[in-house]
Amino acid sequence: MNALHEAFHYVKHLWTAKKRHGIHSPLVYALSDVVFHFKKTNPSFSSLIMLKEEWLGNHNVLEIVDYGAGTRISKGSSGRTISEIARVSTSDQKQAQAMYHLVQFLKPKAILELGTNLGWTSFHMALAAPECSVVSIEGSKTLHDFAESNRKRFKLGNLTLICSEFSQLLKTPKWTNLAFDLVYLDGNHRKEPTLNYCKLLEPYLTETAVIVVDDIYWSKEMTEAWEILRSSEKYDLTVDCFHFGLLFLEKRNQKEHFRLRI
Ligand SMILES: C[S@@+](CC[C@H](N)C(=O)[O-])C[C@H]1O[C@@H](n2cnc3c(N)ncnc32)[C@H](O)[C@@H]1O
Repeated sequence: MNALHEAFHYVKHLWTAKKRHGIHSPLVYALSDVVFHFKKTNPSFSSLIMLKEEWLGNHNVLEIVDYGAGTRISKGSSGRTISEIARVSTSDQKQAQAMYHLVQFLKPKAILELGTNLGWTSFHMALAAPECSVVSIEGSKTLHDFAESNRKRFKLGNLTLICSEFSQLLKTPKWTNLAFDLVYLDGNHRKEPTLNYCKLLEPYLTETAVIVVDDIYWSKEMTEAWEILRSSEKYDLTVDCFHFGLLFLEKRNQKEHFRLRI
């Protein structure tokens, strides 16, 4: 059902999304250029590609508790090999690399990720801007511990991994002193939780923050959440990149929405 929903919207996206030269907004043009049409041979990526290959060959089992919507393959609490987690739950290479370039493009001072998993995208974002504080939250302790051991291995001093259920932490008053310029929502892909996280995050965002909502066509629920968010008056600029959507908090003269071919 979800796969059918995603396939339908993918075809629709291909028909309606604009290629770079059809974009009249200088910011969105630059975004498309820098973030999605980058050279794939960036030397910073080689150690991360090797790390993923290592995970794909690792058949040790982690007992994980999935606090979210699960994956298409597994839902609920179960033992899963690191290889399967790396294959099914981590972002693909193109998307993690797009996040790396998005960080370099937006130059945030502080980033928050909801959904560390093995740490794949956290590591890309932390490497993209060593002077930026990156915080990532994961509910499942075994996943958090695994990501933490890899964080230490990679000596990523600007990355802090927190083990907590998302809303539990976000509801804790003053849980952080940081004001986030960039947030990557990549866990619990359901409508109400997604909308709720955006609300709970409000006190912790800068006025020009950007929220990246992952998997906006993963399910009917996620598409409904995305439609509500993108039409909200809170965000004057919204960009649909199919695999994820961008919400810009900065106030502009008019509300604009773009569908970008990536
Ligand atoms: C799709 S994976 C994240 C992938 C990761 N961002 C990446 O790019 O490789 C989602 C993660 O969010 C975690 N998660 C889902 N719902 C959660 C919740 N309510 N609280 C804490 N963690 C949650 C899951 O355990 C899972 O590891």
